[in-house]
Amino acid sequence: MKGVILAGGLATRLRPLTWVTNKHLLPVYNKPMIYYPLEAMVKAGIKEILLTSSPDHAGDFANLLKSGEDFGVRLYYAIQKNPTAGIADGISMAKEFARNEKVLVILGDNIFSLNLKHIADKFKSKKKGAVIFGVETDTSSRQYGVVEIGENDKVLSIEEKPEFPKSKIAQTGIYMYDERVFDFIKKLRPSKRGQLEVTDLNNHYLREGTLECETLNWWIDAGTSHDELLRANVVVSEKVKRGEL
Ligand code: G1P
Repeated sequence: MKGVILAGGLATRLRPLTWVTNKHLLPVYNKPMIYYPLEAMVKAGIKEILLTSSPDHAGDFANLLKSGEDFGVRLYYAIQKNPTAGIADGISMAKEFARNEKVLVILGDNIFSLNLKHIADKFKSKKKGAVIFGVETDTSSRQYGVVEIGENDKVLSIEEKPEFPKSKIAQTGIYMYDERVFDFIKKLRPSKRGQLEVTDLNNHYLREGTLECETLNWWIDAGTSHDELLRANVVVSEKVKRGEL
């Protein structure tokens, strides 16, 4: 299984912090933000990882993370020409890199402590499908995709930032896909906000009946706002001191 970390975007919600740098390079307690998804990949047992970024900051990631050797992985870099083309567009850049293997995708601003190894190993042995990860949140649904879950943990619907959310479960930025994901992305059309949405991609698997949802009990999207970035710093510092992260 290959890894893909998406670290592009303009991060307009974090300006002025992001006028001259990429948000994934901002500090979260004692490390740059990008370390957290990278270390999550390492814990999951992923050995080859593609990091996608914007042309302006790709060099900074290479300076920071180099070949990946210090983390025990091999890193590859890709440039996303249009930083606002969406998550699914970012994933599509990994087609050649994935070489018909399944992929674990993590958004570069997602911080969590769950070890994905067990779930990744289970998914590797599956013939086809996708896994999304949900977390209960009180934060406004306007910020996230919302997952509705029925009996036996069956996913009933996923809606991107709905006005009237059907549940309190937010879709996180952690996804596992089978080899067909690139064909599904080709079928997507830009949403109202002009992006190829990861929610539309996940709905392909949902319609097919091969989508599973795992849950996390702790997760932060540090790139959502200044307040979430601050909260990430505070919560991560506490967790690190307690040995939980
Ligand atoms: C994206 C996804 C959304 C998901 C979120 C998690 O939102 O579209 O479904 O809940 O990441 O971080 P965006 O950050 O593009 O607004």
